[in-house]
Amino acid sequence: MDASLPLALEAVSKTFRTKGRKKQVVNALLNVGLGLKKGEVAGLLGPNGAGKTTLIKILCGLVYPDKGRVLAFGRPFEQTRKQALSRMGVLLEGHRHIFWPLTVVENLKYFGMLKNVPGPALREDIDRLVQFMGLEGKRDVPVRFLSQGMRQKLSVAVTLLGNPDVLLLDEPTQGLDVESLRDLKQRIVRLAKEFQKAILLSTHQMEVAQELCDRILILQQGRILADAPTPELMGYFKGQNFMVTVQGLPLFSRGTQPLAALGIEPDLDEHETGGVNGLVRMRVRVKNGEGLFGVLQGLKAEGAEIVKVEELKRSLEEVFMEILGGKKGDG
Ligand SMILES: Nc1ncnc2c1ncn2[C@@H]1O[C@H](COP(=O)(O)OP(=O)(O)OP(=O)(O)O)[C@@H](O)[C@H]1O
Ligand SMILES: [Mg+2]
Repeated sequence: MDASLPLALEAVSKTFRTKGRKKQVVNALLNVGLGLKKGEVAGLLGPNGAGKTTLIKILCGLVYPDKGRVLAFGRPFEQTRKQALSRMGVLLEGHRHIFWPLTVVENLKYFGMLKNVPGPALREDIDRLVQFMGLEGKRDVPVRFLSQGMRQKLSVAVTLLGNPDVLLLDEPTQGLDVESLRDLKQRIVRLAKEFQKAILLSTHQMEVAQELCDRILILQQGRILADAPTPELMGYFKGQNFMVTVQGLPLFSRGTQPLAALGIEPDLDEHETGGVNGLVRMRVRVKNGEGLFGVLQGLKAEGAEIVKVEELKRSLEEVFMEILGGKKGDG
């Protein structure tokens, strides 16, 4: 494993055994390996119970793995625990770790002291973070009077105390309105690109992952199904989708397999035959430009006039569902 990586996991497994009458064994993580790079935002996706929170807790030493090891800044975590933790900022699910009776500044002071940030540096840190997170107007407001989005921003500010090199953020954008979401996404990108922090975040919001993350990891039932740069992941399941609108397509061609009826065999996903002014829209999936050309030629040969060809961009959600679906049942 590359020693320059701020954080890495090697073949980590974790099983939970619940006590009580109904004993259950849950393999929360199975043989998981990953490396987190400086200046990178990596996104952790996966259905509820996939193991995302467990993975984050293992990376910051809150949960011990049964097998495998955690490397922090190139050294085994247990050898460097205290030092490593002082260089990490961790946001766990929800807002349970900020104190509701305390104000914004009091929370930051409290957690700054816990992190051993020295007095003058802490005062500077607090001013900088309050401004960075856009909480200037709320400095002296107790957390219980803040909106959910503001609490989330304060929670992120707390993780940034002491200027850590690594940020582990479990669902940091949960419950934010459109504007706050955009705002926080921009700040997270700046933290990685401008300040060269290594960031791992989990999310259920596909658009957040797609826009924010340089790399995406997909977890399901404790296993990593995919770990790839976002553009590469988006290119999985090769083939391009187009929406082709034609006019004057003979009625006989509009059956269940209109293109097959034309003697063309594209990988047809779905088609829509519409009645508006005789316009027919069809969704066509082809392997490449050649394939599309063939489809259009065939349609023209049938007497159809090509009105419009639009490329349909594949969304991360579609890729995500295909990966989960494709691997389901593989064991
Ligand atoms: N302390 C624990 N004791 C027993 N089982 C646990 C414990 N923590 C997690 N689990 C189990 O481990 C599995 C993974 O849980 P985890 O919280 O990591 O999932 P997650 O991917 O974060 O899910 P979500 O999207 O719902 O937050 C689940 O089946 C969960 O019930
Ligand atoms: Mg979770």
